Amino acid sequence: MLELDLADPACPGLLLDPARSRIGHGVEDGHSFDAEIEQDMVLHGYNRLGDASTARRRLTLVFSPLLLEPDNELRTLGLVGSVDQLRDFGRQGFLVLSAMIDEDVLVELDSEVDRLITRKPPPADKVGFHHYFEHPTDLPVADRALRLSGVQSLAEQLIAPLAIDLAFDHIQVATSIYGWDHEPGGGHIDGYGTPGQTEPRTFTMLAAIYLGDETEAGRGNLWVWPGSHLGHERLFRERGVDILMSEESMGGHACLLDPAPDFGDGQPVLANRGDVLLAHHLLAHNQSGNMWNPMRRIIYYRLAATGHKERWADTHTNALLEYAPVRAAL
Ligand SMILES: [Fe+2]
Repeated sequence: MLELDLADPACPGLLLDPARSRIGHGVEDGHSFDAEIEQDMVLHGYNRLGDASTARRRLTLVFSPLLLEPDNELRTLGLVGSVDQLRDFGRQGFLVLSAMIDEDVLVELDSEVDRLITRKPPPADKVGFHHYFEHPTDLPVADRALRLSGVQSLAEQLIAPLAIDLAFDHIQVATSIYGWDHEPGGGHIDGYGTPGQTEPRTFTMLAAIYLGDETEAGRGNLWVWPGSHLGHERLFRERGVDILMSEESMGGHACLLDPAPDFGDGQPVLANRGDVLLAHHLLAHNQSGNMWNPMRRIIYYRLAATGHKERWADTHTNALLEYAPVRAAL
């Protein structure tokens, strides 16, 4: 594993032999980062839009051995985030990346969510969770934020060389209305509980853009059970990939099975406005109450790696199957 901190002025860069390294813009279509060697042979990373300010914020380029050709030529690039972050994701099943979305984009997102809520207000006496699942064409700012503000590229950096995009025809705006004092006792995974379904609606990764301050619990935070993506992997290996299809799980809650697997204690995800959450599809999670502000709002994207539909069952028994860079970092 080679690692560079491009933000460190002392970073010497990576010395490469251009005769042996095929590096240039658009090394492989669909990857988040291109690379080039300047005359001084220092490697520079750029995001797909060439937005240097975004690139500067993401401090480290990591080159996975899996992405190297056998003759050690760099076939492709694309990982951003420290090796520790990749390891954290592999072990915990989620990652919060701080201050990834620019304030001007967040303001546009606020307005789009305001318009949605005005158009489809929640019932007057509603407290607690109230969700919107909207076609991406009806949330153009959120769709653009996924593609142009780095969320899609961040997600792809965990699953390279696969590409990632929306798994379904919706973007979710999740709200939590003041007055529901609740901490969940167990979690679920998405994709279960639809009447008549013959297989789960699985995907690869949940991504979120935070619009509010959720740096403390009790603010409508998403709750997660760290490491439970691997707990689910064990469950599916031992009891079959259809184990959560039964009514017993009430829509993907392994904690309701008898016997129930032990996923340990849950915890609220703490994050701030502009942060991005990436979470493994098999991470047990749930919603909690908001006793802090009138309405907590967050944007969720369910993302699937290219070809996920054909391999979904294998991703249940091999949780990191689609996450080659994460596997390489562990
Ligand atoms: Fe869920």
